[in-house]
Amino acid sequence: MLRKTVLLLALVDQVLVLENGLLRTPPMGWLAWERFRCNTDCHEDPKNCISERLFMEMADRLAQDGWRDLGYTYLNIDDCWIGGRDDKGHLVPDPKRFPRGIAFLADYAHSLGLQLGIYEDLGNFTCMGYPGTTLDKVFQDAQTFAEWKVDMLKLDGCFSTSEEKAKGYPMMAAALNATGRPIAFSCSWPAYEGGLPPEVNYSLLTDICNLWRNYDDIQDSWSSVLSVLDWFVDHQDILQPVAGPGHWNDPDMLLIGNFGLSFEQARAQMALWTVLAAPLFMSTDLRTISAQNVDILQNPLMIKINQDPLGIQGRRILKEKSHIEVFLRPLASETCALVFFSRRTDMPYRFRSSLAQLNFTSSSVYEAQDVYTGNVISGLRAETNFTVVINPSGVVMWYLYPVKKLETSQQ
Ligand SMILES: *[C@@H]1O[C@H](CO)[C@@H](O)[C@H](O)[C@H]1NC(C)=O
Ligand SMILES: *[C@@H]1O[C@H](CO)[C@@H](O)[C@H](O)[C@H]1NC(C)=O
Ligand SMILES: *[C@@H]1O[C@H](CO)[C@@H](O)[C@H](O)[C@H]1NC(C)=O
Ligand SMILES: *[C@@H]1O[C@H](CO)[C@@H](O)[C@H](O)[C@H]1NC(C)=O
Ligand SMILES: *[C@@H]1O[C@H](CO)[C@@H](O)[C@H](O)[C@H]1NC(C)=O
Repeated sequence: MLRKTVLLLALVDQVLVLENGLLRTPPMGWLAWERFRCNTDCHEDPKNCISERLFMEMADRLAQDGWRDLGYTYLNIDDCWIGGRDDKGHLVPDPKRFPRGIAFLADYAHSLGLQLGIYEDLGNFTCMGYPGTTLDKVFQDAQTFAEWKVDMLKLDGCFSTSEEKAKGYPMMAAALNATGRPIAFSCSWPAYEGGLPPEVNYSLLTDICNLWRNYDDIQDSWSSVLSVLDWFVDHQDILQPVAGPGHWNDPDMLLIGNFGLSFEQARAQMALWTVLAAPLFMSTDLRTISAQNVDILQNPLMIKINQDPLGIQGRRILKEKSHIEVFLRPLASETCALVFFSRRTDMPYRFRSSLAQLNFTSSSVYEAQDVYTGNVISGLRAETNFTVVINPSGVVMWYLYPVKKLETSQQ
């Protein structure tokens, strides 16, 4: 018993760093939870219950409707897939809802050029009461996921103590590494510890997790989006520096395509998550999503910005008394993204500013491409005054790039 513990600790020590080389840009894909929750009633609701059918139908949509080719490649299972453990202690899926097993689903996803994500909880139970991964099961469960050819693990933590989490998350990172299969690791650990130092050690998380949930679950409402956004912005001095290639803050899923957001709010969530270098996990019914919402989620320039190779998380740089806020994300090749966000509730607001007011000092001439309309604004110098018209709870988003060569050649 003692020898086993010593061996585990040695392993944890040795492979503390999760050098799996994965998620150099924020992950993109589809995650079941926000839209489909723990609906296990396949009798009354066969189309929407958590089952093999739901994941196969979403896989088909991801592959056939342009999502995969834009980068939305993860197909992620959340809670309520587990049936129990077999007599050797191996996790098994619910036999009625996943009759062909998880390995079958992983093969199906791979055959379509997708990757499969799975979900477990550190502790006695999952959040919805299914068998969890206790400390003595960490290595066995990691092995099971690897044998099934799973590509990502979201490890939640509803039924474990802080002490168990402090042991279990690094142990799972080591266990995933020991399988030899590259498996992206999403840790819910910080969300259970308040998301901030000193309870949360972000330098340790950066070493062991590819992404982590810092804060509360998102719900299908604008007020939920704002509460998540406010928390991330209030703590941006702590959170912004810890994100980067291979290790991301995760403000939770995109609500776009569901019931709680207006068109402007859907555009705003997409733009704000993109400047925050957030994972883009949709959680909506891809079989019935409207063309308008597809346009928001499939905007190629938006995705290019989200997936920028530098992987720098943006910040809110301005908060005006007018309830207009400006966010900036630096991007590769001296370009950047600007989001002008309105928290107003009256009418479209004419926000006047200049790049100088946003502390741009360069003598370059810039062009800005409006990410949603495609319009190009040229001849922007630092001191040039401009006006953007921002709708209530909406955004204007610019992709800004210098056109210096033009300036020197023309003078
Ligand atoms: C395990 O970690 C080592 C570095 O400690 C790394 O070289 C290797 O690629 C990792 N393997 C997997 C499967 O993550
Ligand atoms: C997990 O179960 C064990 C054994 O029943 C119990 O002692 C422990 O308190 C439980 N842990 C939590 C966090 O509920
Ligand atoms: C945080 O974790 C790192 C290991 O990655 C460790 O070196 C450091 O001492 C920890 N910091 C605190 C304040 O515990
Ligand atoms: C611009 O810089 C000044 C001086 O450092 C600072 O007070 C102000 O907040 C900055 N504004 C923006 C929009 O970054
Ligand atoms: C920009 O507007 C300010 C007033 O807000 C004015 O003082 C300034 O001269 C204008 N700059 C240019 C280049 O027009």
